[in-house]
Amino acid sequence: KQDDDQLIIDAGQKRFGVTTCGSCGMIYSAENPEDNFQHTQFHQRFIDSIKFVGWKKERVVSEFWDGKILLVMPDDPKYAVKKAEDVRRVADSELGFQQVTLSRPLQAKTYLFINTERMVVGCLVAEPIRQAFRVLDQPDGHKDMTKDDFMERHRAWCCSTVPEPAVCGISRIWVFSLARRRGIATRMLDTVRSSFTYGCHLTKQEIAFSDPTPDGKVFATKYCNT
Ligand code: ACO
Ligand code: ZN
Repeated sequence: KQDDDQLIIDAGQKRFGVTTCGSCGMIYSAENPEDNFQHTQFHQRFIDSIKFVGWKKERVVSEFWDGKILLVMPDDPKYAVKKAEDVRRVADSELGFQQVTLSRPLQAKTYLFINTERMVVGCLVAEPIRQAFRVLDQPDGHKDMTKDDFMERHRAWCCSTVPEPAVCGISRIWVFSLARRRGIATRMLDTVRSSFTYGCHLTKQEIAFSDPTPDGKVFATKYCNT
């Protein structure tokens, strides 16, 4: 009898179920062969990319109970630069960025958040800039659209034409899907502000986000107003 019940439950899960992989975070339908194949393809590459074995020299710029933030500079040892690139590639593919090269690779600083399980769960790329254009609040006419509708259709934000001075541009910020909403992005940005320019603490106004995604915009708005 119990077996029968179990069968029914299993069938239901299979028919309707989408699974979130607890290691790589991919959401897929386990019983769909193509989905399964894509997950297998993605899973190991992802795990290898974010796995952190520990380095002989680590530039630790912040430490927390649940992890630490390392800073990687362009002329650091090859193993460090390679890891930063691997993680950036993961972030880029999730962000839908095509080009993997940075606009000014020799000046970019990469911040990696390493958790206590030795995985890189956060990545932030910061570059020196001189000016930025403020993203303007959306006109009221759009307010009746649902947020998702609106975000989907307006990836290009309305920007002011008046440049404002800025010091540090955030060209990428990414947190592993299973580690979001725990303040990792916030702590990476706080760390950038205290370590990007030697001996100087940057204000929130001196930081600019380049071409934010909907997630990025919600986060940036929250961060800059608090
Ligand atoms: N929806 C609503 N509010 C949000 C969201 C969201 N998806 N993400 C962050 N916030 C707000 C919340 O108010 C949050 O505080 P709370 O959790 O106490 O409510 C606050 O921002 C701080 O959030 P954090 O926990 O510090 O942010 P997190 O570590 O989750 O990282 C990030 C945010 C980087 C945007 C993450 O969602 C992500 O990696 N998304 C996919 C990649 C992406 O879109 N990156 C931005 C690209 S733009 C650029 O790179 C310039
Ligand atoms: Zn997986």
